[in-house]
Amino acid sequence: MRGNNHKQPLVIANWKMKLTASAALDLARKIKKASAKYRGAEVVVCPSFTELGAVADILDGSGAALGAQDCFWEEQGAFTGEVSPKQLAAYGVATVIVGHSERREHLRESGDMIHKKIRVLLSLGMRPVLCVGESFDERAEGQKEVSLAAQVHQALDGLWLTRAHELVVAYEPVWVIGSGQDIDPNEIEHTHQVIRQSLCDIFTPSVVDEHIKIIYGGSVDPENVGRYMAKPSVAGVLVGTASLDATRFSAVVAGALKS
Ligand code: PGA
Repeated sequence: MRGNNHKQPLVIANWKMKLTASAALDLARKIKKASAKYRGAEVVVCPSFTELGAVADILDGSGAALGAQDCFWEEQGAFTGEVSPKQLAAYGVATVIVGHSERREHLRESGDMIHKKIRVLLSLGMRPVLCVGESFDERAEGQKEVSLAAQVHQALDGLWLTRAHELVVAYEPVWVIGSGQDIDPNEIEHTHQVIRQSLCDIFTPSVVDEHIKIIYGGSVDPENVGRYMAKPSVAGVLVGTASLDATRFSAVVAGALKS
């Protein structure tokens, strides 16, 4: 039994900016083929914006849904270079990653920007995947909990979750992303409880249990996924590097289903 009422593991592929168009379409085709075996899991694939349409066509009718890596915080307007959540929805996107640490670092994405993105996504009935995580230095200095609570509060304070709303919080320790490093599943469980406490300070515990999934991301692979998913608070995984190969990604889904 999963904790938090989550019986179906959520597995999100984050392809980042790592694939050419032809490599992305090739990977999508392989995932579609493999996706008959994904039954029992909820699988979401997040390509670059430029490949959304083509990947949507390929994944149509498969066992994998289409997601996006980011969006803007307005539905429409004079915002050169940005992509509206409504435009994403037109491609069938329901799940959108928000506040990934790479965007916080390289684009100076602030707590306020992340908050506004989550607000517009919820208002459109879409599902944000809020990424939070501490840096290596914050962890070394004993500031992990403080940093995570601040990120959760900046993103979510002042928002309401009503019946139709769904939210995912992805705990991604910044020092583990892309490192190939395993971390102690007990540390993940402890940190998820810290995040859950912050969520319960904002919403009620029953709203948290009914509407919010907490998932883990950071060098998740076919070997470690079972240990992570075995923890009661881990409702799924956000997968970067291991999602770029259809065989490895499918093995991650299989591992998530087994635990
Ligand atoms: P990784 O990336 O699996 O390569 O660590 C995860 C992420 O950044 O979402």
